[in-house]
Amino acid sequence: MSPPASKDLIHRARRVAVPPYQHVQRQLHDLRMLVFEVTQRCNLTCRHCGSDCTRSATVPDLPPQKILEVLGEVAQAYDPKRITVMIGGGEPLLYDGLWDLGRQIRKLGFPWGMVTNGSLWDQATLERARKAGARSISVSLDGPKDAHEWLRGKDGDFDTVLATVKRLIAAEWLNVMDVITVVHPNNVHRLEETWRIMQEIGAPGWRLIPISPIGRAKTNRDLLLSTEQFQLLLKTIMDLRQRSDMPVYLSESNYMGGDLDFRVRDHHYFCRAGISFGGVMVNGDILACASIDRRFAQGNVFQDSFVHTWENRFEVFRDRRWMKTGRCDGCKEWRHCQGNSFHNWDLDANAPGACQFHDHALSDVPLCGDLPLRSKRPGPRRRR
Ligand SMILES: C[S@@+](CC[C@H](N)C(=O)[O-])C[C@H]1O[C@@H](n2cnc3c(N)ncnc32)[C@H](O)[C@@H]1O
Ligand code: SF4
Ligand code: SF4
Repeated sequence: MSPPASKDLIHRARRVAVPPYQHVQRQLHDLRMLVFEVTQRCNLTCRHCGSDCTRSATVPDLPPQKILEVLGEVAQAYDPKRITVMIGGGEPLLYDGLWDLGRQIRKLGFPWGMVTNGSLWDQATLERARKAGARSISVSLDGPKDAHEWLRGKDGDFDTVLATVKRLIAAEWLNVMDVITVVHPNNVHRLEETWRIMQEIGAPGWRLIPISPIGRAKTNRDLLLSTEQFQLLLKTIMDLRQRSDMPVYLSESNYMGGDLDFRVRDHHYFCRAGISFGGVMVNGDILACASIDRRFAQGNVFQDSFVHTWENRFEVFRDRRWMKTGRCDGCKEWRHCQGNSFHNWDLDANAPGACQFHDHALSDVPLCGDLPLRSKRPGPRRRR
C-alpha cells in the first residue's frame, strides 16, 4: 500500500485534473447509460421511495414498442455496445414482457441491467434473466432484518431478498452484481453488522446511498441523516474500505469535497446526468434519471426524437452556470461540485435541496489523517 504522503499527492493531482476532465465530458456528452422508467408500479410501498411508487400507480407503463423504437434510433446514431440500458422503476419485475424486451435490447447490441427490490425472484426468474441476456443486476437490501423490513414495510422480506442476492452472486454469467443499501437514521448505527452479512454471503460489491429528500422522503424528513449520522456513515465507509476486500463505496451522488471523494469511493464525484446519462420516464419524458424533478424534461419520446433531443437540448445539464446562485454563488467548491447532484436541485427554491459539503461539516477535511468529527460549519465563503 502507498504511504499516506504519496497517496495524498495522488489525490491532489487527481483533484486538479477533475474540472478540465468534466469540462471535456460536458462538451462531448457521450451517451453511456440510458435508463427507462418502465413502470411506476411496485409490489412494495417503501417509506423512502423517491419515485413515490405504489401497488396501484395510475400512470400506464411505458410500452415496449416505444422503448425499442427509441433504442433502434440510438443504435443507429451511436455504438450500442458502449451504452448500458438500465430498466428502472417501480419494480422492473412487474413489467409485462420484461424478458422479451431484454432479449430485443440485447439483439440491438446493448448490454442491459436493472435495479430490483429482490423480493419477487426465484430460480426460474434467474434463468429467464440469463436467457434474456441481462448483464448487470443491483439488489436493494437496507440493513439487518428489522431495519430492512421497517423501511420496506414487509415482514419476511429480508430473508427473501437475501436468498435472491445469494442466487445472483452464484450467477457467474452476470458481469456486474452489487447490493445497494439506503442509509437512514435506523440503520446508520448498524452498518458494521450489515457489512458482516455482506461478507458472509460474499457480495461482490456494496453501495451505500444516504436517503435523498425526494418522493416520499421529501415529506418524511425523519428519514434523512443528521450531520452526526452522515459523518458516521463516512467514517464507517472509510474504515470498511481499509478492512474489506469487498468494494464498499458511497454512491456516486453527493459532492463530498476535500479528498473525501477519493476516500469514500473510487472516483471523484461527477454528476453525469444529461452528460453521459440519459433517461426516458414512464410518460415518455426525456430526462436523465427518475430522481430528477420532471419539470426539467427536455422533450418526450411520443413527440420528439431521442437522439435529436440528446444532441441539441440538455443545456441546463451541460452548462450549469444558472445554478451559480444563492449559496452556490461564491462557493469555493463550485468548480468541483457545480450545485451538487442534479436530482438534489430544488427547482422551487432554485437552490440545492442538499449540500452535504457545507451542511454536514466536511469542508475542511485534511488531506491526510482521520476525518475529525465536528459540529456544523458556517456556509460557503461569499464572493467579495
Ligand atoms: C427507485 S428504486 C427502483 C428499483 C427497485 N424497486 C428497488 O427498490 O430496488 C432504485 C433504488 O433507489 C433507491 N431509492 C429510492 N428512494 C430513494 C431516496 N429517496 N433516496 C435515495 N435512494 C432511494 C432504492 O432504495 C433503490 O435502491
Ligand atoms: S424503492 Fe423500489 S421497492 Fe420501494 S417502493 Fe420504490 S420502487 Fe418499490
Ligand atoms: S454550496 Fe454546496 S452545493 Fe453549491 S457548489 Fe458549494 S458545495 Fe456544491
